[in-house]
Amino acid sequence: MKKILFVASECVPFVKTGGLADVVGSLPKALPADEYDIRVMIPNYHAIPFKYREKMETIYYFQMDDRIYVGVKRLVLDGITCYFIDNEQYFSGLVPYYDMFQDLERFAYFSKACLSSLPLINFRPDIIHCHDWQSALVPVYLNTVFQGDPFFRGIRTVFTIHNIRFQGTWDAGHIKWVSGLPDECFEPARLVSPFQDTSIPRSSWNCSMMRGALVYSDYITTVSNSYSGEIQTTSFGDGLDDILYCRHERLWGIINGIDYKEWDPETDKQIFFNYNVKNYVQGKRENKKAFQKELNFPVNENAFTIGLVSRLTGQKGLDLVDQIMDYLCSLDINLIVLGTGEQRYEDMFRYYAGKYPGKVSANICYSDPMARKIYASADAFLVPSAFEPCGLTQLISLRYGAVPIVHETGGLKDTVKPYNKDNNTGTGFSFAGYSSWELMDRIKHAYYLYITQRDRWEEMQARGMAEDWSWANSSKIYMDLYSRM
Ligand code: ADP
Ligand code: GLC
Repeated sequence: MKKILFVASECVPFVKTGGLADVVGSLPKALPADEYDIRVMIPNYHAIPFKYREKMETIYYFQMDDRIYVGVKRLVLDGITCYFIDNEQYFSGLVPYYDMFQDLERFAYFSKACLSSLPLINFRPDIIHCHDWQSALVPVYLNTVFQGDPFFRGIRTVFTIHNIRFQGTWDAGHIKWVSGLPDECFEPARLVSPFQDTSIPRSSWNCSMMRGALVYSDYITTVSNSYSGEIQTTSFGDGLDDILYCRHERLWGIINGIDYKEWDPETDKQIFFNYNVKNYVQGKRENKKAFQKELNFPVNENAFTIGLVSRLTGQKGLDLVDQIMDYLCSLDINLIVLGTGEQRYEDMFRYYAGKYPGKVSANICYSDPMARKIYASADAFLVPSAFEPCGLTQLISLRYGAVPIVHETGGLKDTVKPYNKDNNTGTGFSFAGYSSWELMDRIKHAYYLYITQRDRWEEMQARGMAEDWSWANSSKIYMDLYSRM
């Protein structure tokens, strides 16, 4: 039995702000339980719903470094043991993340607390699998501060990059202060970049926790094959392309899956009507009409309904959407947006909802039931991201028969097969150049196909629904990786 510990800042169903939580919550369940003992460690945020918090049991508490409280709580859910690192001072806010300055200290504490608690709770993993910058210091601590302790000897580490844009970056002086890591970690090409301005003091050097993980982990993975290539270039590497390029033999691009039980239009309790790959035409039509009623839109089953569920940030290509909104709204469409994030995008969608009532619906909130209704009722689904490590919303759309319209980048490129009118193949529409012009062009193609050749449109929906983007394939690649380690 291989013992693996996932360390992350989010996990479904406890806490979620994006796709990271979906992956951390679903991948452990996809590995065979008779071969793998996979456990998950996340912070014990107050934001975790009470129905879970009340069932947690405290299994240990201690003072880390003789000064900071660490509690370890446990809850077993769907056969997976989850541990929650408890500290009121750090995790009692209403949201999982604060600002970067505070988060550096909170997640440095979290990473060290995870390792410190393992001997005490008597779980010695063979492999620690860390996700994104919040757990990036785990491999660094393991190979420095904890190295002398026989308990930790031989534990291997893998670090998964879900988004290289967020690295846990500050100056070296501050990161040394919050982490207590030894001086050796702040030499060039460890946590700090090898390209440093040597005329400025060392403590002011730019320092990235994620760089530390890339240097100290045994293996690195990221969430699609295309993105694994992209991040080895200056344009996408966000300053880490040098180390990724050098360690490319240890870098695997493994496409994410989604939990096909969790995301299933046939059993989804949140949508208006359930449907499957046989009765989806009628099923989706009924969902659309019911949703239009709920949104106070005119009921019109032929309005080309476009969904957009996203964090509203610069990554997601919303500037392109802004530039085409007036043209888009001259067509017979509905655009249903759900998301939260940067003020400028929230305001932008509120503005268009005001300008085009009955056509544009701006839902500036986080709502899982609403997201599901959008997937179920949309004809098409927009993901024009500037970059996208994997992207799960296009996978969920395929599963729910909403045809994705995507920018050909990262995981979007690897999962959406462009429609080919000559031989009637493909599962979506994609554009290669990142411009509003190309986005509009592809939406137009989709719109006209929907209006003029509905049979072909429906066939495309069925092809998407029939594909398998569950963890069935990718979990085997993770197993291969774990066995090599
Ligand atoms: P990212 O992790 O970059 O945000 P992904 O496409 O990987 O993007 O994952 C986004 C996940 O978060 C999907 O499960 C999507 O349905 C969900 N999601 C995003 N925004 C919202 C929202 N406002 N309400 C509900 N679910 C959301
Ligand atoms: C990140 C990426 C997204 C990916 C998700 C899960 O948030 O932005 O593309 O799907 O992580 O890996």
